[in-house]
Amino acid sequence: MHRVATYRKQRGRAAQIFPPAADTWLRLGVAALALGLLILALGGWDYARSSYQSQTGWVQDQPVPFSHKHHVADDGIDCRYCHASVETSENAGLPPTHTCMTCHSQLWTGAGVLEPVRESLASDKPIRWRRVAQLPDYVQFNHSIHIDRGVACVECHGRVDQMPLTWRAKPFQMQFCLECHRDPAPHLRPPDLVTRMEPLGWSEKQKRAYGEQVMRVHRIDPKTLDNCGICHR
Ligand code: HEC
Ligand code: HEC
Ligand code: HEC
Ligand code: HEC
Ligand code: HEC
Repeated sequence: MHRVATYRKQRGRAAQIFPPAADTWLRLGVAALALGLLILALGGWDYARSSYQSQTGWVQDQPVPFSHKHHVADDGIDCRYCHASVETSENAGLPPTHTCMTCHSQLWTGAGVLEPVRESLASDKPIRWRRVAQLPDYVQFNHSIHIDRGVACVECHGRVDQMPLTWRAKPFQMQFCLECHRDPAPHLRPPDLVTRMEPLGWSEKQKRAYGEQVMRVHRIDPKTLDNCGICHR
């Protein structure tokens, strides 16, 4: 009897500490937490795909404010003049200082912005460009095969000819590579047009017809081109 009374008393106290409404509050709290987690998860997803994470559109400070817009669009210099190994090797290559000096020993010779270029030539130390388009080490990439099959620079680097300073135009995330590897046909063009930046003016039908022809000739099989071993060895 005594025990029951104490029990009742304690229950009564418990009921005072947790009034009936507590249950409702608890439920609401759990629901709010779940919603919060969901928002965080979705936000994280968004974040991962955002330009911050993929570094698209970011301009790097360079030792010399080199402008592709001036050199490519205004002066008409072909990509391969400076990125000379793009057709023959894995790397496109960045130009050695004497490539700049073929013109700048005569042009803009006193310009302050070109001081690091002259210094590099005099000291025989290459200009240290900051990279904007780079993959992690565990991914294989090869320029020459893409160029040979007719994948244009613009597919992966965007309108470089409109960049006063160079930035990464495309997210070099796995999905970007896979989207083309699973259906390359509409992305192929004659290899002698790969450095052309403006659209060719082909219709979707023309693009696909041309691409499918290339795929037959080179036996490109989209079913195997997304195998993990192609890019991760
Ligand atoms: C084929 C000739 C040629 C080569 C090679 C060349 N330049 Fe130029 N450069 C020019 C011309 C022409 C201008 C004037 C640009 C203009 O106003 O259109 C210029 C201008 C510049 C300027 C002044 C700012 C600007 O963009 O107007 C810088 C900086 C520059 N070049 C850096 C370089 C560097 C660095 C290299 C080597 C990676 C290089 N150039 C290679 C022809 C060349
Ligand atoms: C006159 C020389 C010159 C020409 C022509 C030229 N480039 Fe460049 N390119 C450079 C220099 C110098 C750099 C390094 C500085 C920078 O990132 O702007 C560079 C950097 C790049 C980068 C960034 C690489 C990285 O990871 O940092 C890409 C992509 C690129 N060039 C593509 C092109 C394409 C595409 C063309 C033709 C439409 C082209 N370039 C024409 C000199 C040139
Ligand atoms: C299929 C996509 C693709 C195409 C097409 C492509 N690139 Fe690249 N490019 C890349 C990737 C990916 C990297 C980074 C490679 C790395 O870090 O290993 C890169 C890097 C570069 C670099 C940095 C320096 C170097 O040696 O790699 C330059 C310069 C460059 N590309 C220029 C070009 C030019 C010029 C063309 C056209 C003639 C071109 N690229 C076509 C994807 C491409
Ligand atoms: C716009 C189309 C396109 C994009 C984007 C693209 N590729 Fe490719 N890739 C191709 C084609 C076409 C081939 C040639 C397939 C063949 O001839 O069998 C190829 C072949 C390759 C190969 C095989 C080379 C070899 O030696 O067999 C590798 C590795 C590769 N790509 C990596 C990449 C990576 C990494 C990316 C993303 C940074 C990428 N590719 C983006 C179209 C593309
Ligand atoms: C056409 C090229 C290509 C193929 C094929 C490919 N990957 Fe990737 N993978 C990449 C690139 C590029 C990255 C770098 C992503 C980055 O830096 O954000 C990557 C990154 C990764 C990562 C690191 C985590 C991440 O997502 O960033 C893993 C794990 C991975 N790949 C697994 C695979 C597996 C498993 C397959 C086969 C089903 C595969 N990859 C096929 C290009 C490829």
